[in-house]
Amino acid sequence: MTMVTLERHAEFALLILNRPEALNALSFAMLAEIGALFDEVASWNDVRGLLVTGAGDKAFCAGANIKELRNRSLADQKAGAELGQSVFAKLDALPVPSVALVNGYALGGGSELALACTFRIASPNAVFGLPEVKLGLIPGYGGTQRLPRLIGEGRALELILTGRNVKADEAERIGLVNAVAQGDLLEEGLAFARRFSRHGLLALQFARRAVQRAQDLPLHEGLRVEADLSTLAYRTADAEEGMAAFEEKRKPEFKDG
Ligand code: CAA
Repeated sequence: MTMVTLERHAEFALLILNRPEALNALSFAMLAEIGALFDEVASWNDVRGLLVTGAGDKAFCAGANIKELRNRSLADQKAGAELGQSVFAKLDALPVPSVALVNGYALGGGSELALACTFRIASPNAVFGLPEVKLGLIPGYGGTQRLPRLIGEGRALELILTGRNVKADEAERIGLVNAVAQGDLLEEGLAFARRFSRHGLLALQFARRAVQRAQDLPLHEGLRVEADLSTLAYRTADAEEGMAAFEEKRKPEFKDG
């Protein structure tokens, strides 16, 4: 049975976690499916972005499937964390940006999936949280690393150590989400994605890569990466087109080249 679906929606790929009866909790089989589908998206050369959401109106994803977690060997537990981490890391490597459309609970691994996306748009009933400490665990699919990078160490530690939930309005205020949708989440997610997707893909890729490297490098090395990537961007046909269009006072026609 397919627990994750991948479809095209307009010029985007749309991945839907599809186990609403368990609030889209991530079994290991689902994680493997998600990884294979991310690979598939990477091979589609005509999509402008990936949208990720959950089936049903209650949850984006309630985290790892707790029912699968008990009575496992330490080796299996470590392999499980590494599987989740490597699947979510595929989002960084995708040629296109990704947007999590968070339609309800995003807890534990669900928050971590949203954090691994390039952007997050929340519905007003979205609830974020890393409640692992309540289970005697800690986040294992990237939460301890991505959350502080996004919202700062102090706020991240507060959320991780208390395990408390964050509703949509607070999530927006602390920078955990880019926006809260006022109307239809998918429509607003598409509108949000179109604000970047009309630009040339290469400029978007180089800019994402430069920002991603900033997380790992001291400033002087990050600046060197930025200089290299901005020079590469300058050599593209899209840059030529963009600058010509500015001078000719017309809209650019980017060809992703
Ligand atoms: N794993 C397995 N099943 C889950 C689940 C999860 N994470 N979250 C919900 N479900 C299941 C419930 O067991 C229930 O199934 P049954 O009807 O068969 O009992 C069904 O989904 C509906 O859930 P509830 O009845 O609990 O719904 P609710 O509205 O009363 O509560 C909730 C919603 C507050 C989200 C609650 O389900 C909950 O607390 N879920 C667990 C959240 C959690 O702790 N997530 C972290 C998991 S650990 C992790 O993710 C580690 C990591 O870093 C990767």
